[in-house]
Amino acid sequence: MSVTIKFNDIIKKYADKTVISGLSLDIKKGEFFTLLGPSGCGKTTLLRMIAGFNSIEGGEISFDDRVMNRITPQHRNIGMVFQNYAIFPNLNVKNNVAFGLKNRKIEKEEIEQRVDRILDVVQISQFKKSMPENLSGGQQQRIALARAIVMEPNVLLMDEPLSNLDAKLRIDMREAIKEIQHKVGITTVYVTHDQEEAMAVSDRIAVMYNGIIQQVGTPREIYQRPSNIFVASFIGRTNILERSLKQEGGKQVLIMGEDYKLEMNHIPQKEKIKISIRPEEFTISSTQEGIAGEVQHNVFLGTNVHYTVKLNNDEFVEVIQEATLGEPIEPGTKIKLLMNKEKINLFDYETERNVLEEDSYAK
Ligand SMILES: Nc1ncnc2c1ncn2[C@@H]1O[C@H](COP(=O)(O)OP(=O)(O)O)[C@@H](O)[C@H]1O
Ligand SMILES: [Mg+2]
Repeated sequence: MSVTIKFNDIIKKYADKTVISGLSLDIKKGEFFTLLGPSGCGKTTLLRMIAGFNSIEGGEISFDDRVMNRITPQHRNIGMVFQNYAIFPNLNVKNNVAFGLKNRKIEKEEIEQRVDRILDVVQISQFKKSMPENLSGGQQQRIALARAIVMEPNVLLMDEPLSNLDAKLRIDMREAIKEIQHKVGITTVYVTHDQEEAMAVSDRIAVMYNGIIQQVGTPREIYQRPSNIFVASFIGRTNILERSLKQEGGKQVLIMGEDYKLEMNHIPQKEKIKISIRPEEFTISSTQEGIAGEVQHNVFLGTNVHYTVKLNNDEFVEVIQEATLGEPIEPGTKIKLLMNKEKINLFDYETERNVLEEDSYAK
């Protein structure tokens, strides 16, 4: 049975150090939900609170309508997968997966059936009789996942489960994990500091910093409409520029360059503003229009070319363009940069919060 998870104004202290002060969050039934943030921001702390391994100094954690604060970990029906797989080296694959079921005194025949079904779901049936040491890291992680899911937990928790795998295997495994989660439909809370991994697996993501949730949203909402400058910079790469807004002929315009202005709708009247433009949102223009600059540096990366461009006001921006069959633009070349104004995000100069109104969000 999958459950909803609700944090209501929770507080976590380690001795007298408060690491989470008043956090609220709703995770939906069956959802693949990710806690994403830099090391030390409190992801593992929150996950351990769901599992019941951490005390709670204030507020409530509930599964569906049941308050869990005082329920011991054994009674929460949680499945867990960590980066060190913690599988038993002396048991073969089948017995590793069957271990928890045997402890529950389930009948032999039912154990066989459930283990077979799960090995099939995680696609390691052919290794049923193998010993873990003869399997790759990715296959061992599938055993750990199978062992957790076979117990039919209410909630599946995963803390950086792919960190020990090499880059290529990590990409294969994140697809496998997402697919397996969707098949079994267990409410899943996944922890990672890797933003690309978070975007690849999640239904929704909570971006955390300093024990505080900065934004909750789908991968696309978080990437395209970050709620503040921290989120804009942490998710993907971006250029943060300071610019001014002016009223011209009853219209609000953003002064991007000497001769380049963009008319903006639905934004508050501010003089100074911070903006975020991702490197791939610029277009290098062959017309006279655009922000004037000079190419400083180029790096050819196969699909794309990364340029460092120095603007006329001495600002540097990163620009990514799809590679063409010709040579990349040489350093020293004068260029103009255009941008798609729909994709720009504007932030309050002081609070650094996104000032775009809800109805200007990309739907
Ligand atoms: N057992 C502990 N005792 C004291 N402080 C801790 C303990 N566990 C974590 N912390 C502190 O709590 C903060 C959040 O840690 P953690 O939840 O492990 O972050 P993350 O998983 O995001 O890297 C950090 O400042 C960390 O030093
Ligand atoms: Mg951690």
